[in-house]
Amino acid sequence: MAASSSLNTPKLAVVMVGLPARGKTFVARKLQRYLSWFGYITRWVNVGDYRRAQVGARQPASYFAPDNAATRGEREGFAIDALKDLLEFFKDGGQVGIYDATNTERFRRDYLRKALNGSGIDVLFIETLCENPAIIETNVRRNKLGLPDYAGMTAENAFQDFNARIDQYKRTYVPVAEDEGSYVKIIDAGRQFILHDIDGYLPSHIASFLMQIRPTERVIWLSRHGESESNLEGRIGGDAPLTERGKNYAAALADFFRERTAKLVVWTSTLQRTVATAANITSDAQQIRALNEIDAGVCDGWTYEEIASRMPDEFAARARDKFRYRYPRGESYADVIQRLEPIIVGLEGQRSPVLIVAHQAVIRALYGYLMGKPKDDCPYTEVPLHTVIQLTPTENGYEDERFKLML
Ligand code: F6P
Repeated sequence: MAASSSLNTPKLAVVMVGLPARGKTFVARKLQRYLSWFGYITRWVNVGDYRRAQVGARQPASYFAPDNAATRGEREGFAIDALKDLLEFFKDGGQVGIYDATNTERFRRDYLRKALNGSGIDVLFIETLCENPAIIETNVRRNKLGLPDYAGMTAENAFQDFNARIDQYKRTYVPVAEDEGSYVKIIDAGRQFILHDIDGYLPSHIASFLMQIRPTERVIWLSRHGESESNLEGRIGGDAPLTERGKNYAAALADFFRERTAKLVVWTSTLQRTVATAANITSDAQQIRALNEIDAGVCDGWTYEEIASRMPDEFAARARDKFRYRYPRGESYADVIQRLEPIIVGLEGQRSPVLIVAHQAVIRALYGYLMGKPKDDCPYTEVPLHTVIQLTPTENGYEDERFKLML
């Protein structure tokens, strides 16, 4: 998906709805990352952040009581401040704004919808519903107790307070109704979905993305192949076999996973250096062409020195804009990102731990997406050989840990 593949410039506000600890922020952040990676100008606003910035993080559950006359107006003020910032963003050319708050009361949603529609912005509600106590408890313990709201409090006291906060919201919660327009309801963290009035390219695409993602603890590992004959000679591209050192890395990688997980999904490119690198781990690795290295076109198999001396203008053009530069009859990093979209969607839908063994440019692009980096930075990310990148999911993205298995 690319922003340019929609026929006209969209202006869409995604308004989250749901009780606290139902995964709204997880969904909102993932959606924002996905849309911005594939070319939309996006912004995420979180009303809780406005509250924390203006009245401090430490507020007891009673602060959130719907009939607390002392705080009600203040809370509406934060909601309006966040809305104003989102409207400014749209005025400045923004395309998809994500409004992350509980929005559990109908009158708040009506207010948002009228203000947004009045400025020519479509609204899509995404409501996360969950009554499964195990999912809620895991969510609270994993994502909420570490908030600045609970700094210095024991985990048990924080847990009690957060549950009391949820109860305050429950008192006036009214789920989104059909006459409120377009919505996607995500029930029990993706067990069931309800779609209403989903029309047009972008809302449909968002709905199908939402059906892929799951709050999950599965880890993603990324690795380049072991050293190849081409790496040794400093040649780019090609389909060379592993060197002895490369084969040693393949063995070390298998040991690494033997100690960690039995249930591992392994994806490689179709080039022999990645296939051989994963061969000791499993015989079930899936070979996927979209994971092949950036296509260096007419420069495939050359060294950087050869490119600089034979095609100095091309070499200089790449140095000027490495992200957009496309090798003659080959690819740019921007092209690589586009062709990785099915991999990213497949990765989001994957419930088991995954290892991707691929190539420098491809790993940079996948890493950039997963870590929410600016796209233009991805050609410069350090991705050394013989190093496993371990990405563990958090509410806002992934935590990065690296294991250098060999020099
Ligand atoms: O040198 C190894 C390699 O994987 C090449 O095949 C590829 O062209 C290159 O890395 C990508 O890195 P960069 O974009 O920094 O040239």
